[in-house]
Amino acid sequence: MPDWDLLLTDVRIATMCESTAPYGVASAADAIAISDGRIAWIGEQTTLQGKTASVQRSLDGRWITPALIDCHTHLVFSGDRASEFEQRLQGASYEEIARAGGGIMSTVRATRDATSEELFDLALPRVSALADEGVATLEIKSGYGLELDTEIRMLEVARRLGEETAVDIRTTLLAAHTVPPEFVGEADRYIDMICNEMLPQVAERNLADAVDAYCESIAFSGPQVAKLFAAAKQHGLPVKLHADQLSDCGGAELAAHFAALSADHLEYTSPAGVRALAAAQSVAVLLPGAYLTLGETQLPPIDALRSSGVAIAIATDCNPGTSPICSLRTAMMLACRLFRLTPEECLAGATRNAARALGLDEDRGTLEIGKRADIAVWNISHPRELAYWVGTPQLAELLTGRHTTRP
Ligand code: NIG
Ligand code: FE
Repeated sequence: MPDWDLLLTDVRIATMCESTAPYGVASAADAIAISDGRIAWIGEQTTLQGKTASVQRSLDGRWITPALIDCHTHLVFSGDRASEFEQRLQGASYEEIARAGGGIMSTVRATRDATSEELFDLALPRVSALADEGVATLEIKSGYGLELDTEIRMLEVARRLGEETAVDIRTTLLAAHTVPPEFVGEADRYIDMICNEMLPQVAERNLADAVDAYCESIAFSGPQVAKLFAAAKQHGLPVKLHADQLSDCGGAELAAHFAALSADHLEYTSPAGVRALAAAQSVAVLLPGAYLTLGETQLPPIDALRSSGVAIAIATDCNPGTSPICSLRTAMMLACRLFRLTPEECLAGATRNAARALGLDEDRGTLEIGKRADIAVWNISHPRELAYWVGTPQLAELLTGRHTTRP
């Protein structure tokens, strides 16, 4: 009877554990064993002492890292907003376009009109593109339905993507994305509807793993978000927030007050907001794709986040309006160039800290004994290359906990 299901030898291991060694490199270790979809052992081949696995393979000196995690996407949607991109290139702002009935509402119209089958077919290649780059866990938000039926259909499509691909999908209810036409001038009544009708059904059917909201002058106020978050907590759902993207609305403080898993965007977050995130141990999810696409100039408070010890994650924010980007590697490269993060910070942001932003840090995001065997095998000379090349196929193989489970 072999000791393990799978033993990979001749590997270089960037564990991405928090340690003094860059990239958490376990310098002497050159082998990793997997059983029941979990990492069972990491060590030196020379110390195996007769231990065996059902399957043993040499990876010929390749690097392995934790599989990548994209912790913030809106990738279930119909239509596109390329014409708005053109308008913005001519000088129109995101806010102006939204106030004129475009923006999120334009995607809401297209998404409401699409069947669930169409939404699935449109989203599938986006999920595949991310998986081809090494993503094994992916968050998908609703928020382009803004009424019960389409919000639920979006979450169902997201769940189905998880069932029919090798990617593990976490879903987030973002019904509080913007005020829908049925509730114009009545944002409070819409929030009440989410709290009293949508949330109970979504929770009852286990369709969402978290609740998100957009706190901004063109979306919802702090008190409205607070009401929603209190209701989410009553249903046992953790919260996340689109915070301080276009202005300082006290979003980071609000997220911290509710012990949010993460506060996302944060371009306009104040020093007090950063301190609040640090105290609450919420993750700062930075979205350089949206920053780039919107032509933002206000940088998130990177130095303050770093010096306060706030964990930083990087995500694509894949959506048709502010971040038409389906590549986490590109987001990592942009985070280096635009936000001056180091390649190591970016890789931690797309593995360890992204897992934390989804409440999954006990389960994945680093290569450690007991964690899910979500492992990316790379054709690279050093892990720093992962935040350097863009559009270069370097993934040799993606092992996921699901695939290495003993039949
Ligand atoms: O993360 N800021 C709000 N939500 C999205 C944009 C969604 C959209 O414009 O369709 C974001 O940038
Ligand atoms: Fe977003």
